[in-house]
Amino acid sequence: MRIPNHIVDQVRDTADILSIVQDYVRLKQVGNNYIGLCPFHEEKTPSFNVNPAKGYYKCFGCGKGGNVFNFVMEIERLLFVDAVRWLAERVGITIPTQVGDREDYDKKEIVFHALRFAAKYYAEQLLHPHFGLHAIEYLRGRGLTDQTIERFKLGYAPNAWDGLLKAAARESISPETLVRAGLIKKRDDSQGYYDRLRNRVIFPITSHVGRIIGFGGRVFTPDDKAPKYINSPDTEIYHKSNVLYGLYQAKHEARKEDRVLLVEGYTDVLALYQAGFGAVACCGTALTPSQVKLMGRYVNEIRLLYDADSAGQTANERAIDHVLQNGLDASVVSLPEGEDPDSFVLGHGAETFRDYLQRESKDWMESMVAKAMSNHLLDSPRGKREEIAKVAKRISWVQDDLLRKLYIQKASGLFGIHEGDIAQEVIAQARGRQAKTPQAVAPPPENSSIVEEIPVEQKLLLKVMIDYGGSMIKFIMGYTGIHEFKEGACRELANALVKIYEEYQDQSLKVIQDGHFEVSETAQQLMATLMIEQHHVSPRWSDLKVTVPPLHEDVQRVAEESMLVMKRKSNHKNIRELERQILSAQDGSEKQMKLQQEYAKMREKRIKLQDRGIFYAGE
Ligand code: GTP
Ligand code: MN
Repeated sequence: MRIPNHIVDQVRDTADILSIVQDYVRLKQVGNNYIGLCPFHEEKTPSFNVNPAKGYYKCFGCGKGGNVFNFVMEIERLLFVDAVRWLAERVGITIPTQVGDREDYDKKEIVFHALRFAAKYYAEQLLHPHFGLHAIEYLRGRGLTDQTIERFKLGYAPNAWDGLLKAAARESISPETLVRAGLIKKRDDSQGYYDRLRNRVIFPITSHVGRIIGFGGRVFTPDDKAPKYINSPDTEIYHKSNVLYGLYQAKHEARKEDRVLLVEGYTDVLALYQAGFGAVACCGTALTPSQVKLMGRYVNEIRLLYDADSAGQTANERAIDHVLQNGLDASVVSLPEGEDPDSFVLGHGAETFRDYLQRESKDWMESMVAKAMSNHLLDSPRGKREEIAKVAKRISWVQDDLLRKLYIQKASGLFGIHEGDIAQEVIAQARGRQAKTPQAVAPPPENSSIVEEIPVEQKLLLKVMIDYGGSMIKFIMGYTGIHEFKEGACRELANALVKIYEEYQDQSLKVIQDGHFEVSETAQQLMATLMIEQHHVSPRWSDLKVTVPPLHEDVQRVAEESMLVMKRKSNHKNIRELERQILSAQDGSEKQMKLQQEYAKMREKRIKLQDRGIFYAGE
């Protein structure tokens, strides 16, 4: 059916493109625009723009763009009509239905409709002054306010085999649709059906954009011998492994804190929401990568809360691995024995809970090392070496450059090992193998000396090429030759970087950072050190009338100044050497003539270098 134009316009005007897109993409404000990583193609630097004032989005990487309808069609893979309905539902605009409308309504929409109806039915039952009384008293008795009950659309499934079935029939929702929605089951023996959820308080499960997709139901009378929870099965709409309970409601707090709490139960989510925390739970599955990605749209950090006595410690480690592998940061809080987040908040209040989190939370590395230590795994060099490998592997998953460096620093402190060695192990782990040298544990003395012998301007040039990849390799190699770099690890690394650039062009940075190239052990050490070392400008540079800004401020100038220093130094050396040779050569000999010519050339070059001519006129 056609949706009337004025309604389409109304939906477009009401739907805020920014908040719609933010359910899929983490955005940062830059002037009038918001930018982020494009959800339609793989990218590492953001080229996806949203302009809320114009109501448009555009990716300068893949070219996709349009208005809010185009976005929903593209990201939810919907036809135009369904995208309009989808948005209408979110912004609370009713689209009139006509007779016969239901048939050509998208097939899945019928199931959504049934789920929406069921939630409404359960919520009404909960508020029923007679039937719902015990259920709502139970919820209130657990400290939930009416506001929370309403916000999460909590309900009650009455104590009957066909409560929902009958109510749905009155709305012309067929049993087949209810089966597809996971709400009823076929009887084994006869033609009939029965409600899945009976005499339980109901927790509707919503997608991250707030559509109802399934239900959890809990017994609430002490004498009920049935399983404590019954949940919807996976259906064509509800895929447990992609869904997080409470994410829709937790979004706001989570985004504000840049962090979401991951808990075990529905009731934990509710109690924490009420206490002002953004919390989510998996619905009866272990945390999956797609759930992590989903949280990654809103936050950078996932904080795992688990009870100390829970058997889920290994599950917890898996969860941390998924978090790190998907580019988010993980922290862990272990609750006091016998408490879950719900009981803690109820018993001690929100403020005490907040303090507890602040005091007790450990980042993933601290928690790993603490556990290894309490299991005496760090007592022997071999044990310690293994732990370092494990930690380094996880550091190698950290995608944010600065964060990775900070974790390298932290690991260096925790294990009492040189940062360069940790960095080297991180690179080795990234390549999928351990550094074979057992000496990685004992700080190799040459490691630091190699690096210290290299002139600071050459270190800076290498660092610029490592940190910025293709564009800077090209720039630097436009003015210098590999032969100008100090022989040994330094020149080898410069050579490797140039080769990478020749092969991978603007993809070079990724190749460099993934460590996907072969160099000698010492060159690798040098690279690892350069990656993490903060370079301070040598004070002697001021004698050479060169000032260098901090690296992150103007990388091109850093490169220019460094090249200038490198060239002046080598020019200076050449002049000295020529003077020495001229003196020792015989008067008037042909050799001396040549040397004199060369000497004149070098002095000319010195003048050019003095007034920085190389960057304007070439050599
Ligand atoms: P309360 O006991 O009401 O505080 O709930 P809880 O959330 O603390 O429950 P618990 O810690 O026992 O379980 C955590 C989560 O595991 C629940 O939210 C459910 O998702 C799941 N769960 C617990 N018991 C069952 C069960 O009997 N069946 C199923 N399918 N899931 C369960
Ligand atoms: Mn509980």
